[in-house]
Amino acid sequence: MISKANINKFKDLETPFYYYDMEVLRQTLDACRDASAKHGFHVHYAMKANFNPKVIDMIQSFGFGADCVSGNEVKAAIDHGFDKGKVVFAGVGKSDREINLALDAGIFCFNVESIQELEVINELAGAKGTRANVAIRINPNVDAHTHHFITTGLDENKFGINIWQLPDVAVALRACSNLQFLGIHFHIGSQITDLEVYKNLCTRINEMQDWFEDHGFQVKVLNAGGGLGVDYYSPDNDIADFENYFQVFKNFLNVKPGQEVHFELGRALVAQSASLISRVLYVKNGLKKNFLILDAGMTELIRPMLYQAYHQIENLSRSSEAGNPDAATSIKYDVVGPICESTDCFQKDVDMPESFRGDLIAVRTAGAYGEVMASGYNLRDRVGSVYSA
Ligand SMILES: Cc1ncc(COP(=O)(O)O)c(C=O)c1O
Repeated sequence: MISKANINKFKDLETPFYYYDMEVLRQTLDACRDASAKHGFHVHYAMKANFNPKVIDMIQSFGFGADCVSGNEVKAAIDHGFDKGKVVFAGVGKSDREINLALDAGIFCFNVESIQELEVINELAGAKGTRANVAIRINPNVDAHTHHFITTGLDENKFGINIWQLPDVAVALRACSNLQFLGIHFHIGSQITDLEVYKNLCTRINEMQDWFEDHGFQVKVLNAGGGLGVDYYSPDNDIADFENYFQVFKNFLNVKPGQEVHFELGRALVAQSASLISRVLYVKNGLKKNFLILDAGMTELIRPMLYQAYHQIENLSRSSEAGNPDAATSIKYDVVGPICESTDCFQKDVDMPESFRGDLIAVRTAGAYGEVMASGYNLRDRVGSVYSA
């Protein structure tokens, strides 16, 4: 809920901006830390979800590791105080420069996504006279039951190494003397709300660790990736279901003595902590449609346009918090941005109180994959950020 005090504060601010509720973030991090610590699990924050400096500083202060998907993320994690011994690095296309940067930083582990990449890391580590810790990212062909645009663990996806390639992986690992095999890594998709999916993942992880051990490799690390979803329809229901999520792994993962279990959560840690705050520039009443034209668009939050993602949209100026309990007149609006693209639409046919030029609009649950995907398309200004205490 965006409070009356905040709505009053926003009236004086230039829009659009991301509003970060740091207390929601704190409570979410607390809940995740408690739920994972109960089972001795290790959590790396997936930096790609949001690398706003204040956000990652707070996450770092909770002692989480970092999961990075570019050299610059590795650098940012270390610059922001994440322990290099808790940094993992995934991604299908790590460049030589990025690999060298991570080798120099002495990160915990590369999550390796192809046999060719294994060979390149081996060569680059050899040239530096060092050994690189690696985990094999396996594409487990497990359906995440999420939107197909954010599914990553099926055979048709570009991520990870397919199971049928594992015999070649074993040969490559034996030949690569500058690599230390740590374990196996998975990440099957994002915004997963059906915990059954994770049971299926556990089954596959158990099979895969047996495969490696049968082939003479000691598996010290099981990394189940991230993907836990949040409720975009209840933006005030802040905390993701960390308890039940970790409990699934506790119940179904076959963890052997001395093994570590790692996770890479992004969205579930940050999504509910931010809203995109915008103003109505124009109200356009057409024959077939009414349009609310906002001063924020796909350049500030691209998820609806890129993934057909749902975000709750609220008119703060007409809300009961702002002293307008009525909403007797509810009108259907297509809520759109100012960008010169027809796809620049947050949502069609949104039921909202009658809205006017200058009204403040909140696009909720925007803390994950929001600000980080902002762009300068149409030579737009960079979106701002505002923080609660
Ligand atoms: C390798 C990897 N790990 C973790 C994540 C975090 O996913 P999520 O934000 O859904 O938890 C991602 C994001 O897609 C990823 O690519």
